[in-house]
Amino acid sequence: MNGQEGRVVIVTGAGRGIGEAIARRLASDEWTVIAVDRDAEGIERLAESARGGRVYAAQADVTDRAGVEALVVDVVARYGRVDAVVNNAMWVRYAPLLEVDEQMIDGMIAIGLKAAFWTTQTLVPHFRRQGGGAIVNLSSPAATRGFVGSSVYSAVKGAVASLTLQAARELGPDGIRVNAIVPGAVPTPGAREVVDDEGYEVRRSMTALQRLGTPDDIAGAVAFLVSPDARFVTGHLLHVDGGL
Ligand SMILES: NC(=O)c1ccc[n+]([C@@H]2O[C@H](COP(=O)([O-])OP(=O)(O)OC[C@H]3O[C@@H](n4cnc5c(N)ncnc54)[C@H](O)[C@@H]3O)[C@@H](O)[C@H]2O)c1
Repeated sequence: MNGQEGRVVIVTGAGRGIGEAIARRLASDEWTVIAVDRDAEGIERLAESARGGRVYAAQADVTDRAGVEALVVDVVARYGRVDAVVNNAMWVRYAPLLEVDEQMIDGMIAIGLKAAFWTTQTLVPHFRRQGGGAIVNLSSPAATRGFVGSSVYSAVKGAVASLTLQAARELGPDGIRVNAIVPGAVPTPGAREVVDDEGYEVRRSMTALQRLGTPDDIAGAVAFLVSPDARFVTGHLLHVDGGL
């Protein structure tokens, strides 16, 4: 799915895992990719190695609303436009329900939910001026089914799904499409911190295709949702989970 030359996408949490694969895939589809992460190392390595050289590293903390606004102003000044954003950044912690503390709740809500509000609020005026845009959020199967210890993560990802449906309705008249990916189990550095080998075996056996996902499996679906081929797709939660 090539031919997106001249179009600009912001990918948050692009320093590793699924976000990195999304950034690489969109760069190979000829997007100009602004790879955002709070850790500089991964995005700088990505910018150096990505095919086509159209990945630009932008170190930023997506929970900082003013920082997100400054980033978008800078991107528009440098590249002239922004066409899409992928709200991928997340910080995941699992704990028994009774041991959940404020730091966990505040941290996961700030990165996983509030940041999607900040990027959306900041980008919508640009999208309106350009006559449209695409927003892709990352939800999770944990939103609708129980995994032990995932109460905060499940609540945040459920909220992301709700926000996606609501925003699609509210922004649709402006030609702004809002969709979410619901990825199955993908062993990434972040996911490995909360799921062990046994947990992955359970997830693999629950999957119709009998395998775990890869970051590239998810990136391909994101590439579709931001592309013109998805021009009539909005308010959709696309399960990319091997048939969980
Ligand atoms: N891996 C899976 O199995 C899986 C399944 C379902 C959904 N997801 C979702 O996919 C997305 C990517 O997951 P992953 O497993 O690749 O995660 P990961 O933890 O491996 O990577 C997340 C990236 O986000 C960055 N980040 C965290 N906080 C940030 C902040 N405040 N500002 C900017 N960057 C920040 C991290 O530095 C990291 O590079 C997440 O939204 C996750 O919830 C993952």
